[in-house]
Amino acid sequence: MIHIAVMGFGTVGAGVAEILQTNGALLEKRLGEAVALKYILDIRDFPDSPFGALVVHDFETIVNDPEVDVVVETIGGTGVAYEYTRRALQAGKHVVTSNKELVAIQGRKLLALAEEKNINYLFEASVGGGIPILRPLQQCLAANEIEEVFGILNGTTNYILTRMVRFGITFEAALKEAQAMGYAEQDPTADVEGQDACRKICILADLAFGREVLPEQVPNEGISGVTLRDVEIVEQAGWRVKLLGRAVRQADGSVCAYVAPHLVEEHHPIAAVEDVFNAVMVRGNAVGEVMFYGPGAGKLPTASAVVADVIDAAQHRQQRRRIGWEAGGKEVCGGAAALSMRCYLRTKDDLGRVEALFPDCEILSSQKGEVAFITPKMPLETLRQCAEALQVCAKLCVLE
Ligand code: HSE
Repeated sequence: MIHIAVMGFGTVGAGVAEILQTNGALLEKRLGEAVALKYILDIRDFPDSPFGALVVHDFETIVNDPEVDVVVETIGGTGVAYEYTRRALQAGKHVVTSNKELVAIQGRKLLALAEEKNINYLFEASVGGGIPILRPLQQCLAANEIEEVFGILNGTTNYILTRMVRFGITFEAALKEAQAMGYAEQDPTADVEGQDACRKICILADLAFGREVLPEQVPNEGISGVTLRDVEIVEQAGWRVKLLGRAVRQADGSVCAYVAPHLVEEHHPIAAVEDVFNAVMVRGNAVGEVMFYGPGAGKLPTASAVVADVIDAAQHRQQRRRIGWEAGGKEVCGGAAALSMRCYLRTKDDLGRVEALFPDCEILSSQKGEVAFITPKMPLETLRQCAEALQVCAKLCVLE
């Protein structure tokens, strides 16, 4: 029998307990042995929960119990979550997590410890919620040099954008709905301002390119600057606005990574991704482009990925899964400045000034006191210099 401890009985932790109970017989059949939830660690009590009797308040109970094989960390953040993960690995327990912040910042260190102890540290649920993406990226696409990975990596912001654009709901009301559904982070600014997507693109880049890319190296912009005026203009011209995380391998092996709202052409598969759904596109030098799609947040979808990792850890007790990446550094990762792309700009300047600065631009809307246009493809640094001469009210990247 495999014994599990869940640390953190929030949305995802509760989903893990629910799946272990609902699908227990199926999991036992697949694994060849039963999976028993032995402890739930939380600072709170849950007297009304069917799992209330499993609640403990002291991590020592878990780490000192030799019967616990797999620890699920769904606490979040990099404080106690890091300390408990480190100590659980040190004690020889496999650890499974949905904690993207911890994996993005401390993943390399924790994986090195897991390797030293010959145990598993698995984190499929940290990117894309219920979408299988990290394991396919490492295994099914292992024959490829990965050239680029990008996608909609935050369910909350995609949900908010969809509700605002399709149903005319205000930003605040849409955010409240996302919180009620259990999609948003405890502090939803991490969703709205792009930090959550930033952590996820870092994890994807770590695995895709084999070198550490840290959130502090990745410029991120969220959706708080996206106005309904811009959405209206671009939709009429056949574009959709999506918050994308993107990591591109450069010819010298370095990585350009960033998070920003993008214009996506309405027939692009990413444009059809709505509500809480996420989609990740991977471009490999052998396979071409592959897209992974599914629910990017929420209790059971995220817990589905966590429980699959529990099964995987149990199946790889003798021979751990080889996962890891090398150290990074400034020369390994830069922001988007080295990339060339088109951008959408809206300015209070007149058409004459716009056309003088950007001779081959595509005008989307022009009226007294406002011009909205798409620049030609150019290095972002050149574009920034040209745009400095204009009074820019809005800027969005264009996905090619
Ligand atoms: N807050 C995250 C999101 C949860 O909305 O995508 C899943 O990582």
